[in-house]
Amino acid sequence: MRSPVPDYLADVLDAVRSIDDGAPADYIEVLANADTSRLAVALATVDGEVYAAGDSDVAFSIQSISKPFAYAAAIEDVGLDAVLARIGVEPSGDAFNELSLEDGTHRPMNPMINAGALATHALVAGPEASGPQRVERLRALMSAMAGRELGYDEAVYEAELRDAHRNRGLAHMLRAGGIIDAEPETIVDGYVRQCAVDVTVRDLALMAATLANAGVQPLTGRQVIDRAGVRQVLSVMTTCGMYDAAGDWVSNVGIPAKSGVAGGIIGALPGQLGLAVFSPKLDAHGNSARGVAVCERLSRDMGLHMM
Ligand code: DON
Repeated sequence: MRSPVPDYLADVLDAVRSIDDGAPADYIEVLANADTSRLAVALATVDGEVYAAGDSDVAFSIQSISKPFAYAAAIEDVGLDAVLARIGVEPSGDAFNELSLEDGTHRPMNPMINAGALATHALVAGPEASGPQRVERLRALMSAMAGRELGYDEAVYEAELRDAHRNRGLAHMLRAGGIIDAEPETIVDGYVRQCAVDVTVRDLALMAATLANAGVQPLTGRQVIDRAGVRQVLSVMTTCGMYDAAGDWVSNVGIPAKSGVAGGIIGALPGQLGLAVFSPKLDAHGNSARGVAVCERLSRDMGLHMM
């Protein structure tokens, strides 16, 4: 039987397969050795249709794509004002692993860079939470959004933790500046766990569709995250989700998005759909090179641009 949407998605993947620009992340071996031929896409509509093509059942670490979900959790757990008191909402113009504090307030510029993500992680599950409670809150929330229980890529977790000197440095600076109250080493451990959650593009498309659907998971019908928080999350994804390519992305694709260093990208078009792509080679901005090409094409063909 013909299935028009998956056939179309497979055609889009074929059209970008020849793109061979960029390289996988090389700061840990487990990512450097990724199979660079992998290519996958999934779409999930707000009414629960899921379409996928390519390596859509291959799992990879969520990495920075966890940041918007952690931000949503923090907003729900301590309230938006308390989050804004510690983390800003402006693009930094610097690399994602710079300290990038605002003049005056000393807040990290936004929750999508590492400094802001570490500060965000520290707010998850409230001021009394333990390290394991923060970690489980995030795993459970991301699982509720994906519609299945998610686990961890232990090899990624262990490699990142062994090598997390820069994130440890950031966390200690944030502790010294009073932006985080908890023990910095516990925050780094929890943040590294958060980044090691194992997902497929199917999972990510449903997680993005939950954001697009004002916090209601399209398959289970559960309100898994507060509606007011979702608006804030999508706003920051629009301005800061694609690092220094945010301007090109908003012009060419035009939907709130977030990329991760393992090669995943999500996009969430409010009221319509969530999409996810995966391919490990990253461009100069740290975004999946083929992934960006797939999203540009989907946006053009399907008229996804917000404007
Ligand atoms: O903090 C790190 O270095 C990684 N675990 C996550 C980074 C990431 O995905 C950045 N984005 N492209």
